[in-house]
Amino acid sequence: MHGVTLMNILLLGSGGREHALAWKLNQSVWTNPLYIAPGNAGTAQCGINVELDISDFEAIEKFCIDKKIEMVVVGPEEPLVNGLGDHFKSKEELQKIFFIGPSKSGARLEGSKSFAKEFMMRHKIPTASYRQFDNTNYEEGIDYLKNHPLPIVLKADGLAAGKGVMICQNYIEAIAEYELMLQQSKFGEASKKIVVEEFLTGIELSVFVLTDGKSYLLLPEAKDYKRIGEKDTGLNTGGMGAVSPVPFATASFMQKVEKQIIKPTVDGLAKENIDYRGFVFFGLINVNGDPYVIEYNCRLGDPETEVVIPRLENDLVGLFISTCNQELGEAKLSVDPRSAATIMAVSRGYPVTYEKGYEIYGLKKNYGKDSLIFQAGTTENQEKRIVTNGGRVLCVTSYGKNIADAAARSLEILKEEIDYDGIYYRTDIGYEFS
Ligand code: AMP
Ligand code: GLY
Repeated sequence: MHGVTLMNILLLGSGGREHALAWKLNQSVWTNPLYIAPGNAGTAQCGINVELDISDFEAIEKFCIDKKIEMVVVGPEEPLVNGLGDHFKSKEELQKIFFIGPSKSGARLEGSKSFAKEFMMRHKIPTASYRQFDNTNYEEGIDYLKNHPLPIVLKADGLAAGKGVMICQNYIEAIAEYELMLQQSKFGEASKKIVVEEFLTGIELSVFVLTDGKSYLLLPEAKDYKRIGEKDTGLNTGGMGAVSPVPFATASFMQKVEKQIIKPTVDGLAKENIDYRGFVFFGLINVNGDPYVIEYNCRLGDPETEVVIPRLENDLVGLFISTCNQELGEAKLSVDPRSAATIMAVSRGYPVTYEKGYEIYGLKKNYGKDSLIFQAGTTENQEKRIVTNGGRVLCVTSYGKNIADAAARSLEILKEEIDYDGIYYRTDIGYEFS
């Protein structure tokens, strides 16, 4: 372990995930100062927001050199999939900066479903059976669909802003989607190739590791609630809430997850000489007690981070330094035994159309020792008021002796203290576990 020297840190992103990360990084003995680009009104309480376009690698490079940044932490997937990690490795002045996030090659776990599936096949990692199609085997794909049991899962190969997965309940819909994706470029380049896969039935959970490419630390698992309506009904969203731990993730289930999924993934990356120093997010499904990979992501989840990070007791910068130095094998994780639940407040009309700019009432520094607010789509307007600035506006995370207790605390704060025009949130986060 290094002696403590203060570090200039840059965190990229602007959601609730980044507010939770900024909150945690700001508590580190190493951090001074923390910059967040572009951040939101919440991250501004944990560091200095800077107006940087996170897809503009030259601008990030210039900022890092000007401000003598020593660590870069990447929240969202897009810069990673587009090669920000490689950009840092390719420039002499940037090489010495600790960079948290995989190389472009590693980020293909999220950036290409086809790569992820082939990777899982190579390393015998359990996942839904599948075939991939593009314009070269288009007709074959039609026949494959016609003979496939229902429902059929169609996935655009590339990043499609979380919208690239279609679950089709009948053949007409499946063939129409197939045509839309491959021939009408429904998701542009991202759907030039698609994966058609078997539908798995079970309960999903999100598992995260921090890896240095050799070893890994298993973070607390979480479950997110994706649908807009109570009891998981209605449209899919970015996530309406999350809980951690997940009661069905028992020790024996998690042993299977480590042995059959996590270890072969980390070892597989190493065997394939893929530089990966960052988070791997395993979107898993429990099928009759056995875990399968639904998807990989090359980053933390949102809103899972808002329950996972508050349960982490380690100094996060310390863990990141160990990650970059490939010393994670010597690190030990310390986890808060309490449960955590977060409830996301969104804008009226989300996830379809919504308005922004409504003043948020009830924001304060402290909600007692058991609750925290992480802001997502918020900004400060010209009158220095914090206003809504997105679909997902903020979330309230609480600790509790169990999930029901934690969720009840968050719900009470949302009901009693927070308000803005058009506020909506689910009142049943964690319902299956109460
Ligand atoms: P996304 O988060 O947009 O990638 O959506 C993926 C969601 O689609 C997952 O969270 C699952 O709920 C569902 N899904 C994806 N693949 C499968 C599959 N093979 N079987 C069942 N559900 C799936
Ligand atoms: N909550 C799921 C995700 O971040 O992709």
